Amino acid sequence: MRISVIGTGYLGVTHAACMADLGHDVIGIDIDAEKVAALNEGVLPFHEPELPQVLQRALASGRLTFTTSWSQVAQSADVHFLCVGTPQQPNSPAADLSQVNGAIAALAPHLDRPTLVVGKSTVPVGTAQRLTAELQASAPAGSDVHLAWNPEFLREGHAVADTLEPDRLVIGVTARSDEAILREVYDKLLRASVPLIVADLPTAELVKTAANAFLATKISFINAMAELCEATGADVSVLADAIGQDERIGRRFLNAGLGFGGGCLPKDIRAFRARASELGVGDALSFLDDVDAINQRCRTRAVAAALTLCAGSLKDKKAAVLGAAFKPDSDDVRDSPALDVARELQELGAIVTIYDPQANSTAAQRLPSATYADSTQEAVSGAEVVLLLTEWNEFRSLDPLTLKDLVAQPIMIDGRNVLDRQLWADSGWTIHSLGRGTLS
Ligand code: UGA
Repeated sequence: MRISVIGTGYLGVTHAACMADLGHDVIGIDIDAEKVAALNEGVLPFHEPELPQVLQRALASGRLTFTTSWSQVAQSADVHFLCVGTPQQPNSPAADLSQVNGAIAALAPHLDRPTLVVGKSTVPVGTAQRLTAELQASAPAGSDVHLAWNPEFLREGHAVADTLEPDRLVIGVTARSDEAILREVYDKLLRASVPLIVADLPTAELVKTAANAFLATKISFINAMAELCEATGADVSVLADAIGQDERIGRRFLNAGLGFGGGCLPKDIRAFRARASELGVGDALSFLDDVDAINQRCRTRAVAAALTLCAGSLKDKKAAVLGAAFKPDSDDVRDSPALDVARELQELGAIVTIYDPQANSTAAQRLPSATYADSTQEAVSGAEVVLLLTEWNEFRSLDPLTLKDLVAQPIMIDGRNVLDRQLWADSGWTIHSLGRGTLS
C-alpha cells in the first residue's frame, strides 16, 4: 500500500520504518529539513534499540523516503498516518494540539481524491470528530476524505517490537471501507494473530488515554505502598512480588522507586484529567491528581533520603547520579525523575556529577550546570553519596567492593530497587532503597 507518515519523532520514524518493513511504500514528512536529510541518510536523531537496522533496511529497499513536501506526500500516498507530538501546554495541564492542527491544515488542501487519514497521536477524546469536520471542509475531495483513529501503544526502548508484534491493534472507524483499508495495512500482523479491536472514534481515542492512566495508576499505587512500607519497616519489593502473584493484579508495572516520567504518562494523565473537566465529568478522574502527586513525591523522598544519610546537609557534598534518562534503553530526559532529583540535589548545594550510558548529552541540554562523566567509575570518584536513578543493566551489576574504593563515603540511594541490599550492606555500604528503608 502507499502510505505516508506525518511527523518523524519516536512514533513517526518507528511507524514509517516498520510499515516499509511490512512491504508498504512509505513516505515520511517532517517540517524539520535537517532531520529529514539525516533520516534519508539512515541517521536517527534519538537512541532506540533495533530501529537503526530497520530504518537502514527500509531505506535500502527503496520503499522508504522522507520529505518536507506536502504535495509530494499527497501524491505518493492513499493512507496518511498522523504521528505528530501532543505535548503538555506550557502553562496548563491540557494537551497542546498545535502540531496536530497544523498537520491537518497543511495536508487537507492537497487531498483531491478519496483518502484515509489515520490518527495515531495521543489526543483528547473528541479531537477526531472535530478533525473530520475540518478535513472535509478544506480538502478538495470533501467527504471522500475519511478519518480513522488507530492509537499507538509503543514503549520507548521497545518501539520496534511493540509496532511489529503489538499486544493488540485498535482502530476507530466510521465506515466499513476504512476498516478494510486498515486491515490491509496490518494484514501481516493480523495473520500472525494480533488481536484487532474495532471501535468508534471516541472509544479508540479513549483506549489510549485510559491505558496510560491505568499504567500510571498502577505505578503510583505501588509507590503509595512504598510510603506505607517506609513508615512501618515493611519491604515494598516483597509486597509487590506477593500481590503480583495474583493474576488479577499481575507483577508487571509494580516496580516501586522513583516513579514514572517521560514524554507520555505524565502529560497524558494531566491532559486526560483536563479533558474530563471540560466534559463536565472532572470528578471521575480526580484520582489522577493523587496519582500525579504520589509520583512527584517519589522524587522528593529520594532527595530526603540523601539528605538524611548525609547528616542533614548536602551543601558542597559530592553527589554521583547514575542515570539521567527517564528509563533504561532510552536517551529521553523529558520529565525524567532522575534529572529532577539531580536538579533538586543541586538546589540543596550538592556538587552533582551525572553518568548515563546514553543520555549525557540530552541531559546536559536540560541541566547544563551539572558535570557529566563518561563512566560510573569517573562519576562516583570521591562521591559522598551515590544515587542510582535509572536502572540501566550496567548499574544492576555494579560491584560494591570495587566501587567502595572509589567513593569518599559509601552511601547508596537505590532509586529503582535493583541492587542486592544485603550484598551492598555486607560490602560496607549504607544503602537506602525507596520503600525498603536503610540497611548498613
Ligand atoms: C508509555 C506506555 O507504556 C506505552 O504503552 C505508551 O504507548 C507510551 O507511554 C505512549 O503513550 O506513547 P513509555 O513512556 O515509553 O511508554 O515508558 P514506560 O515503559 O511506560 O515507562 C514509563 C515510566 O514509568 C518510566 O519512567 C519507568 O521508569 C516508570 N516505571 C515503569 C516505573 O516506575 N515502575 C514500573 O513498574 C514501570
